Amino acid sequence: MKSKTEKIAVIGGTGKEGKGLAYRWARAGYEVIIGSRKLEKAKQAVEEISKMFPAEKTVVISGEENNDAAKEGDVIVITVPYKFHEEILGQLKPFVQGKYVLDVTVPLVPPKVSTVHIPKNGSAALCAQSILGEDVRVISAFQNISFELLLGNEAIDCDVLVCGKDKSARQLGVRLVDDAGLNAWDAGPLENSIVAEGLTSILIRINKKYSSKSAGIRITGVKNKST
Ligand SMILES: NC(=O)c1ccc[n+]([C@@H]2O[C@H](COP(=O)([O-])OP(=O)(O)OC[C@H]3O[C@@H](n4cnc5c(N)ncnc54)[C@H](OP(=O)(O)O)[C@@H]3O)[C@@H](O)[C@H]2O)c1
Repeated sequence: MKSKTEKIAVIGGTGKEGKGLAYRWARAGYEVIIGSRKLEKAKQAVEEISKMFPAEKTVVISGEENNDAAKEGDVIVITVPYKFHEEILGQLKPFVQGKYVLDVTVPLVPPKVSTVHIPKNGSAALCAQSILGEDVRVISAFQNISFELLLGNEAIDCDVLVCGKDKSARQLGVRLVDDAGLNAWDAGPLENSIVAEGLTSILIRINKKYSSKSAGIRITGVKNKST
């Protein structure tokens, strides 16, 4: 796939994190489809995101019901609360075969959101891969980036760990993170995703304990990132 030719469908793109990612990718020149359970809600989110750009900037964003968004997208991004993760993946399974699915899900279990929860498959991303099957390439990323930061234009003081089913999934994930304006690291196979997912609970705890809103992570000590 060539750079910026993918259509990105953001499932649950009417929500906080989905809107933030949609904004970032539209800004970078990707065609973005906002998915929702309700078409009207999707169109309303499209209007909100479009208003974030100056009138002279051309952005391509549309709204669809989730299944239609998944049918049209080349990369399907999952941004629904963990409680509905399995259900939405089961629903989308027929429409994402042969495609890339980028899962942003953090397996938080309220009210204990600052305690790491390990799902039955080992991570939310592995659970997604197991539900969707071998013909889908799952990518995991963005778990440690809060929506407020994505919706702003300031530099974000947090790196992004990218895990994926295979090398091509990780390469695409790294590019999508870089194009969203963040610093990506290839963090290996989906088995490693639980570390990124779990870090979110630790960051929530740090934010609470130290009265902060934007605790993040940085990988240090790497001199040549291109290798
Ligand atoms: N918020 C953050 O800062 C943040 C940071 C990192 C990762 N994440 C992860 O991103 C995901 C979304 O978080 P969020 O804060 O954006 O959530 P949210 O705003 O509460 O919800 C996102 C969207 O999920 C959809 N949704 C709600 N109930 C649903 C159901 N029963 N079935 C299918 N879809 C449903 C809704 O879309 P429609 O009503 O339009 O269908 C809603 O707009 C979570 O997995 C979270 O762990 C969030």
